Amino acid sequence: MKASGEALAKSKAVLIIGGSGFVGTHLALRLRDNYKVFATYNHNRVQIRGVTLIPLALHNRDWAKRVVYLARPEVIIYVAGSNSVEWSEANSREVEHIHTGGAATISNVSDILQPHFIYLSNSYIFDGVRGNYHENDIVLPTTTLGKGKLGGENFIRSKSLTYAIIRSSPLIGRGNGYNPSLLDRLRIALSRGERIDLPNEELHNFGLIDGLVELVVRVIESGSRKKTYHYGGLTKMTHYELGVAFAERFGFNSKLIVPARNRFSSTAIETAVQDYSLNFSQAVESLKIEPLFLEQSFDLLDKNLVPSP
Ligand SMILES: NC(=O)c1ccc[n+]([C@@H]2O[C@H](COP(=O)([O-])OP(=O)(O)OC[C@H]3O[C@@H](n4cnc5c(N)ncnc54)[C@H](OP(=O)(O)O)[C@@H]3O)[C@@H](O)[C@H]2O)c1
Repeated sequence: MKASGEALAKSKAVLIIGGSGFVGTHLALRLRDNYKVFATYNHNRVQIRGVTLIPLALHNRDWAKRVVYLARPEVIIYVAGSNSVEWSEANSREVEHIHTGGAATISNVSDILQPHFIYLSNSYIFDGVRGNYHENDIVLPTTTLGKGKLGGENFIRSKSLTYAIIRSSPLIGRGNGYNPSLLDRLRIALSRGERIDLPNEELHNFGLIDGLVELVVRVIESGSRKKTYHYGGLTKMTHYELGVAFAERFGFNSKLIVPARNRFSSTAIETAVQDYSLNFSQAVESLKIEPLFLEQSFDLLDKNLVPSP
């Protein structure tokens, strides 16, 4: 019985838009055993065994349609684009193009197939004034990245009957060697003895990538539709504090980590701290996601982190 169940599940196709990225690769690795996985890349042609990689630049609508009809997915997971606030402020047109326009394109060209459409959003959709945001709290993005996400969320909500939106706090985990994650950048700089500047005026409850991937799996398996979920961890801190904790935990020199100037002001180091933390109790209760403290996440990462060269 188990074998036929597995065969049935494997006949389900999942298309990951942004499959060559940090999040996309983790999703592909987790889903490939149970689903027929198609993953798109733009510049980085990654190789993931058991996964069909397809080139896709989101501005090419005709090609996007061909990709969707080639894969004929029951599930589309939209995880394209950078999560960097700094990069987004300098590339606002590209941000709108990927997080809003690209999501709209993929939703439109897959309309007839009515796939389960999972859109990965983030905590910058909120204003950062009070933190601990719930799914139904008022969204008021102030950053270019947050505005791009809001555009994507609004489009998907208005057009798709089968959507699930997941808003994630910044994620920690290993990258795939092409798109370095925050921890990759930290580890590489620290192991070379290089100084690294990290923002110290935004609070986030950083989440382990594995938990986010598990949440996506449960959303797929439960068939959860027209729902928004939050994801993060139990420990709230700034990027700078995360960097110091990482260095101390993994035996690097924490003095190499320096609190950076405010991201949007050229004047002050000491500015009001903003709190973008997400309350993810709904995902814990309804989808049984395990909440983790930072130390627990580090323990899990410890098994995988490459020792410094
Ligand atoms: N990382 C986090 O902490 C985090 C947290 C919350 C939400 N998210 C969201 O998750 C998504 C992925 O984040 P990530 O950290 O995995 O980013 P990433 O590592 O930079 O990966 C971005 C992916 O998008 C693709 N891409 C970029 N521009 C594209 C374009 N014009 N056309 C088609 N594909 C394009 C990239 O392809 P190539 O690499 O092949 O060029 C790559 O597959 C983003 O939407 C982000 O906002 C991430």
